[in-house]
Amino acid sequence: MKPIHYILYIWAAVCLASCDSGDIQDKVYQVDEKGYTVKMTACVSGLSEWEGTGFSLAVAGFTQDSKFALVQKAVPSTLDDGTSVSLVLSNISSEVRTVEVALTNSLRERIITLASVSMEDYSENTAHDTIRIDLGTIDVGRFGVLQTGLFDRACIQCHGGTGRSAAGLNLTKGNAYAALVDVPSTRLDGYMRVESGNAEGSLLHLVLNEGGENLLSHNHTEILSSQFKSNLEEVSSLIDSWIEHLVP
Ligand code: HEC
Repeated sequence: MKPIHYILYIWAAVCLASCDSGDIQDKVYQVDEKGYTVKMTACVSGLSEWEGTGFSLAVAGFTQDSKFALVQKAVPSTLDDGTSVSLVLSNISSEVRTVEVALTNSLRERIITLASVSMEDYSENTAHDTIRIDLGTIDVGRFGVLQTGLFDRACIQCHGGTGRSAAGLNLTKGNAYAALVDVPSTRLDGYMRVESGNAEGSLLHLVLNEGGENLLSHNHTEILSSQFKSNLEEVSSLIDSWIEHLVP
């Protein structure tokens, strides 16, 4: 068999800007390997919020049992808002069960997942084709990762758009922030749904964490723990960190 050449290709350019903007970074690596290739494209903003935190947005391959990525390629957090990113993770071994676009820490531990593909869905025949994940335009800052990784995944089935928002709380993209931040609870007197700068005093924190099981007619602690089995603590800390960073 002839060796197959895989090209690991990362580029970034300001979204929709012309090619002579001077912001183009272009890196091409050549890898001789077999295995799966996943290509992620997105137009990102909010990356700079992770600068210096050890967290980064990455395309990462996870095995079945570990919350630490076996392989990953991270997007540099120095990229400006509105940057088009195209990132290719190739040479993915058969041990990898899911390839995820995720926020990971410096140990490559999964903090929160924004998109995921199951490698089992790809048969041998397609093994050498490129699997594509397009995230479109996406905010990957503190609030953005919660919108995509938490609200869209675990909340909007009940807290959706007009007419079907439990407690009148709409957690869909474009609405969640305004529905939460410094808005009084409709259920518990004296609490804000989210109180800027005060995670522990925010209803959102209280209903999702241990001890909050009976605060509402629905057990929200259970909703969170059933959805985030390997990264419950990480998601909870992310919510708190977002609230603490809001300026009152
Ligand atoms: C199975 C349906 C369901 C899901 C899923 C759900 N909720 Fe709720 N939520 C409710 C209901 C029902 C209420 C009103 C509870 C009450 O009246 O006691 C509520 C109330 C709330 C409140 C209080 C609102 C207020 O004004 O006091 C918050 C905050 C909240 N939910 C956040 C979330 C978040 C965040 C998620 C996702 C992690 C989520 N919910 C997922 C059904 C759900």
